[in-house]
Amino acid sequence: MRLTVEHMSLSYEGPAGERVTALADVSLALSGGVCGLMGRTGSGKTTLLEVMAGATRPDSGRVRMEGAGGVGLVFQMPERQFFERTVEREITFGLLARGVAADEAHERAARALALMGLTLDELGARSPFSLSGGQQRRVAIASVLALRPGLLLLDEPTAGLDPRARRACLDAVRAAAEDGATVVVASHDANALAEVADRLVVLEDGGVTLDGPARDLLADAPLMRDHGLEPACAARAALALRRAGLAVAGAPLTAEELADAIARGRGSA
Ligand SMILES: Nc1ncnc2c1ncn2[C@@H]1O[C@H](COP(=O)(O)OP(=O)(O)OP(=O)(O)O)[C@@H](O)[C@H]1O
Ligand SMILES: [Mg+2]
Repeated sequence: MRLTVEHMSLSYEGPAGERVTALADVSLALSGGVCGLMGRTGSGKTTLLEVMAGATRPDSGRVRMEGAGGVGLVFQMPERQFFERTVEREITFGLLARGVAADEAHERAARALALMGLTLDELGARSPFSLSGGQQRRVAIASVLALRPGLLLLDEPTAGLDPRARRACLDAVRAAAEDGATVVVASHDANALAEVADRLVVLEDGGVTLDGPARDLLADAPLMRDHGLEPACAARAALALRRAGLAVAGAPLTAEELADAIARGRGSA
C-alpha cells in the first residue's frame, strides 16, 4: 500500500482555550518497508498515526492511500482498542466483519496469537480486560496482524514486553513488511528500530526534523542526541570507546556489529 500525507496540520484545544500544535505541516510518502517514527514525548507521533489511520481528522492537509488491504492501527494503550468480552471475539471481530468464515477466522486468530507467543487455547475465553499489560499488548497486536492490513501502524508496540515477546513482535513486524505491507512503528526504543526499520522519521514539535535511512540516522549518536533521542546502545558504546581511544570501524548498530567493528579496528591498528 502506498500512503501519502500532504501538508498535514492539527492542533488541539489546551486547558486555557489556547491551541496546542500536535502536527505542523507534515508531508510524507511511504511505500512498503518499515518506517520508524521517533520523537520526544508530545512530539506528535500518536497524532500522526491516528491521522494516517483515519481515526483523527486533521485541521488541514490530506492523506491518500493507494493499494489493497486496509489500515490496521495498534494503539499505544491497547486496552483502548478492546471492546469484546473474550480474547477470541476480540481477534476474530474484524475478520468476521469482513465476511471471513468462522472456521477460517478462528484459524487466523490462532495463528496471529501464536506469532505473538500466546495460544488461543489458553487465552481465547478470557476477557481481554483481565489480562496483564504485556498480554493485552500482544492480543492487540495479534488482532491487527490477523487482518493482514496493507498499512500497519503500531504505536509503541514493544513497550512493556519481556525479551521473548519483544523478539516475537519485531519478527512479526518484519514479516508483515516482507509480505508487502507498509509498516510504521512509533517507538522510543532505538534498539528495536535498529533491528526492524528501513527508514526513520523524527518528529519535533509536530514537524519532521529528520528523515532518512534508519541505519545511518540511528548509528549517528551525536545526531540522535542533538534531537533529544537516545541512540542505539551499540552506537553509544562505539562513541564511548572511540572517546576512550579505541579504534572502532564503521557505524555499528547492534552488539554483534559492534564486536565486529572492534575486531576490524584492532586489525587495522
Ligand atoms: N486529546 C488531546 N487533547 C489535547 N491535546 C492533545 C490530545 N492528544 C494529544 N494532545 C497534545 O498533542 C501533542 C502531541 O501528542 P501525541 O500524543 O501525538 O505525542 P507523542 O509523540 O505520541 O507522545 P508520547 O511519546 O508521549 O506518546 C502534545 O502536546 C499533546 O499534549
Ligand atoms: Mg504517543
